[in-house]
Amino acid sequence: MHQITLIPGDGIGPEVTRSAREIVTAAGANVTWETVGAGMRTGEECGTPLPANVFESIARTRLALKGPVQTPFGDAYPVVVEGRTHPSVTIALRKELKLFVNVRPARNYPGVKSRFDNVDLLIFRENSEDLYAGRERMVDADTAEAIKIITRQGSERVTRFACEYMRKIGRRKLSVIHKSNVMKLTDGLFLKTAQKVARDHPEFEVNERVIDALCMELVVRPEEFDSLLLPNLYGDIVSDLAAGLVGGLGVAPGANIGVDCAMFEAVHGAAPDIGGRDIANPMAMILSAVMLLRYIGDAQAADRIERALTAVLLDQKHVTRDLGGSAGTREMTAAIVDKLSKA
Ligand code: NAI
Repeated sequence: MHQITLIPGDGIGPEVTRSAREIVTAAGANVTWETVGAGMRTGEECGTPLPANVFESIARTRLALKGPVQTPFGDAYPVVVEGRTHPSVTIALRKELKLFVNVRPARNYPGVKSRFDNVDLLIFRENSEDLYAGRERMVDADTAEAIKIITRQGSERVTRFACEYMRKIGRRKLSVIHKSNVMKLTDGLFLKTAQKVARDHPEFEVNERVIDALCMELVVRPEEFDSLLLPNLYGDIVSDLAAGLVGGLGVAPGANIGVDCAMFEAVHGAAPDIGGRDIANPMAMILSAVMLLRYIGDAQAADRIERALTAVLLDQKHVTRDLGGSAGTREMTAAIVDKLSKA
């Protein structure tokens, strides 16, 4: 039996996490849930957007399924953990829990329309360094600065993880993404370190791309790419781009993985424009839960959910608006649960 910390989050978060939870339960996975609050709503209720009980729960369960949380602009809800200030709740969780890699697959799903039909990308985003290290300040009233941090150790760790993950699932081609022609020291260190670690895997075809050239190539011929390894900021941006190649943010899942715990969440944000209206696509969160089930070794429940989801996508009758249908989050969830009960 695995216990999972469930963070519903803000905006569409409570709706899509409820959907994922219902589906995991219907698939017969041997899990229990412990719900804790984090995000803007929690900040309003508790005075802090990231209360200590979130860390206490994850310290026990070592597993979390997290809905998106809203990050207000400005200083309304500073995220402070034991004296350390972070730019957002999500970044605080990734950093404090040492979730050093964000794994984000982006592939075509049957029944989901997109401009391309043969995309199968696997993104490894370094998750703890780069411009997201939180070292940003006003130098004077008219000048702001942010410090970009890349370490050899952080770059090695994420590359080793990527290579090991690729080896396990039989992937063979890795593109290391950088801008070392301009960011000579920081991205240069990332690139050189990644190439050195990857040399331990002669079975892989390893190449490199400058981030701007990659963006152009991805939107023209995404099928030529397989696995991408990127520093934090480029990884964040390219994940949304990759989601757009395969049907939008509603279909892109993700996993934040560390040494002793893991947190699963969709690529998309809290989507406050559609929050609470029962129109959000739950697929990205459901697929994040599928990644969680594979992580804990429950391939049977994971496979069952993917089959049920595929069946619902293919018959098109109960899919959300972003997928060309008119169903709500609840209706799409019920249709997947129904397929699970009949499988
Ligand atoms: P967003 O991803 O929330 O929304 C972008 C667009 O995609 C919106 O039009 C939204 O309606 C649509 N969308 C997103 N998910 C969808 C879904 N499942 N089904 C249907 N449509 C969907 O990005 P945005 O607007 O930049 O951010 C909104 C808030 O979310 C901000 O406060 C931001 O800081 C936060 N955010 C949180 C993240 C996290 O917790 N991991 C990640 C990204 C943003």
